[in-house]
Amino acid sequence: MDVSQAFDAAAGSYDAARRRLVPCFDDFYGTAVEVVAPPLRAALAAGRTPQVLDLGAGTGLLSSLIAAVVPEARLTLVDAAPKMLAVATEHLTGRGVPHRVVLADLADPLPEGRYDAVVSALAIHHLDDAGKRDLYRRAAEALTPGGVFVNAEQVAGPTAALDRRYHQVWLSQIVERGSDADEIAAAEQRMAYDRPAPVGEQCRWLTEVGLVDVDCFFKAWRFAVFGGHAPELPDSVRIG
Ligand SMILES: C[S@@+](CC[C@H](N)C(=O)[O-])C[C@H]1O[C@@H](n2cnc3c(N)ncnc32)[C@H](O)[C@@H]1O
Repeated sequence: MDVSQAFDAAAGSYDAARRRLVPCFDDFYGTAVEVVAPPLRAALAAGRTPQVLDLGAGTGLLSSLIAAVVPEARLTLVDAAPKMLAVATEHLTGRGVPHRVVLADLADPLPEGRYDAVVSALAIHHLDDAGKRDLYRRAAEALTPGGVFVNAEQVAGPTAALDRRYHQVWLSQIVERGSDADEIAAAEQRMAYDRPAPVGEQCRWLTEVGLVDVDCFFKAWRFAVFGGHAPELPDSVRIG
């Protein structure tokens, strides 16, 4: 079984478990949406339809939250798991959100076009570090001037001891929120495919591919939201 098959197997129950398995769910996804919204509104103000590319979109959780805040956005969802994308299509179509889904691997060329926001949640940590860096380069190239890249992600601890602590804290938090032994076992099985990197290193990689105003906007143990902008964005529409 590969990573996409592992997520396809969980597609039916994926959304229901999210608030337990991502203990900081509201702040985590909420911060990503806050970072993404200003450039989308700037595109609208300039008379354009804001374009959003969601990498490893899964069931469309982050895309749906963005659409709730900027309903005019046109979403492109990429994922290698067809059943996850089928759930996304059902949700987004049911809410009348304009979108397209692209069944592809994150190592494949990105769907053509320029995007006001390239976003991702809990997906890029499945790539090895070379794959992450290559994807960051391609994501930066796909942005419109002033566009935003944001990754809401599971990150590694900067030391082995901190990484162990991140895992202990996550386990105790999800048990407190009601995850049972089966749910924990299934999550840990999927986590066997994880290759997280520390947030500091990933911010440096984003700077190296030419993004500016790179920052970690939110962090709670293993969960971090970080990103940056393509150059040439007027100060008035940067970061909130
Ligand atoms: C934890 S889910 C996150 C889904 C969604 N972004 C969210 O926040 O709920 C990870 C997703 O990344 C996808 N994924 C992982 N590695 C991938 C790859 N190399 N190419 C395409 N999709 C991938 C999986 O299929 C899965 O749908």
